[in-house]
Amino acid sequence: MRKIERVLLHHKSKKLFLVKDLADNFHTPFGTLSKADLQSSKEKIKSDKGELFTVLQPSFSDLYHQLQRGPQVMIQKDIGLILAKTGVNQESRVVDAGGGSGSLCLSLANVCKEISVYEINPEHYDIVQKNINMMGFTNITLKQENVYKGISETDIDLVTFDLPEPWLALEHGEKALKTGGWLVVYLPNLLQVKEFIEATKKTKIYVLETLELIERKWKIEDRIMRPEFEMLGHTGFLTFARKL
Ligand SMILES: C[S@@+](CC[C@H](N)C(=O)[O-])C[C@H]1O[C@@H](n2cnc3c(N)ncnc32)[C@H](O)[C@@H]1O
Repeated sequence: MRKIERVLLHHKSKKLFLVKDLADNFHTPFGTLSKADLQSSKEKIKSDKGELFTVLQPSFSDLYHQLQRGPQVMIQKDIGLILAKTGVNQESRVVDAGGGSGSLCLSLANVCKEISVYEINPEHYDIVQKNINMMGFTNITLKQENVYKGISETDIDLVTFDLPEPWLALEHGEKALKTGGWLVVYLPNLLQVKEFIEATKKTKIYVLETLELIERKWKIEDRIMRPEFEMLGHTGFLTFARKL
């Protein structure tokens, strides 16, 4: 599904370096790694300053942190809930709108068979395209189209809407989905959630639940064990629905 021609270097300081071009020496604050070492199959290599690095194949989550950011992305806690609740897998065909920065659609592409992504804004389209290229996925069809005007895909397992007025695309999502398919809508504001749920009442889309997921990080260091003082108070509400 994706090809990787790069490596991730791990240094004992916990710093990670993504090497995108193996044909050249790579410079770090801990010294330079030679291209010969980078191209070799060695698991441990040393810089010209004698610093040791572990060579890793970058995973999806390593590359995820390299994504170029444009519009507000959906963050991993919310993406994780979509993957868990809908149970999408290697057989699943998905539609996502709007593409934004690609955080959600790339995470879906990592587990699904194929995904079509609608993004109306040309600048955001370019960001998603760059992020697709960086990740190397080949199962994504990116469309610079207005999803409110229609969805051409059919027999879809999951439709995700992360855009301001999902009720305008509801009829298209309903047509695209197979019976039993999931529609997940991500909205920052409860008034939007209410408007979306009202709109579903005239359709075959049945809302199961609306959730907000709160993530709290903890500081665990020597004798300090407490929640971090700062946290992300709110991201968005996730509404899970199915075509039945
Ligand atoms: C909040 S961002 C989506 C973020 C994305 N889910 C991610 O994880 O990176 C919303 C995106 O929806 C796009 N959008 C808004 N209306 C749209 C429409 N009618 N059709 C397609 N895309 C639309 C915007 O241009 C914007 O990029």
